[in-house]
Amino acid sequence: MSQEIYAAEPEATRREASEAESSRASRGWWDRNADEYQSDHGAFLGDDRFVWGPEGLDEAEAGLLGPGASLRGLDVLEIGAGAAQCSRWLAAQGARPVALDLSHRQLQHALRIGDEVPLVEADAGVLPFRDGSFDLACSAYGAVPFVADPVQVFREVHRVLRPGGRWVFSVTHPVRWAFPDEPGPEGLSVAASYFDRTPYVEQDERGDAVYVEHHRTLGDRVRDVVAGGFRLVDLVEPEWPAWNHQEWGGWSPLRGNLIPGTAIFVCERD
Ligand SMILES: C[S@@+](CC[C@H](N)C(=O)[O-])C[C@H]1O[C@@H](n2cnc3c(N)ncnc32)[C@H](O)[C@@H]1O
Repeated sequence: MSQEIYAAEPEATRREASEAESSRASRGWWDRNADEYQSDHGAFLGDDRFVWGPEGLDEAEAGLLGPGASLRGLDVLEIGAGAAQCSRWLAAQGARPVALDLSHRQLQHALRIGDEVPLVEADAGVLPFRDGSFDLACSAYGAVPFVADPVQVFREVHRVLRPGGRWVFSVTHPVRWAFPDEPGPEGLSVAASYFDRTPYVEQDERGDAVYVEHHRTLGDRVRDVVAGGFRLVDLVEPEWPAWNHQEWGGWSPLRGNLIPGTAIFVCERD
């Protein structure tokens, strides 16, 4: 957190946070922290790879969007694209990606890396596209964990997809919510109820949220996908691979070998 902006360290708490407050907090947090995020994780993500999460599962191997060759010519929307690394990989497969993110600073990093992908600064809850504009939508940890109303995002994705379109997104695995966000042994004991949906909020001295994450159980996520108009065709829980020795926040080889860290939902629209 920036000491110029906050007189004191933000306080971490659990309390309700509306969609508007969550969106405002996310925009501010990612604008302030984009430089650090890209400096810490940019090398792991690569400039033009599609990595689903801290385990390092690569779309080139996973094929969750469909076989690489079948991406050619598809209109693809990437939501919460950050520096658009995934979109750059999609472009290299011959797809026509559009990278959308709420954070201006994240999109500036996308431009720093290259200008081959169209960028859109917008909130995932109100997508600025006509109905049926895309064949495919995807998101690696973008937007979904940070919004109060994921069904609104899913309905918007459904609206902008063409019939038969696929929507694939990764989020923090819901099981992690019960454990402290620590990479070491202290992160291995259940410390909170998995069933407590109260958002995690960091707030400033005025009580305004500066960072918000929303928890949904696995069942909630499935129901949200269905309420958004999709069929769930797969739920992927990437296992921690032997080659990956890096820690990413609370994700680590120690924890990754014992509990799932990421959940990837593969959904289809009728
Ligand atoms: C954890 S980062 C992931 C970025 C990128 N997908 C990656 O794998 O590096 C989450 C991204 O979601 C974006 N985001 C958060 N809330 C959003 C919202 N409501 N609409 C659009 N983007 C949002 C943030 O600005 C941030 O760039």
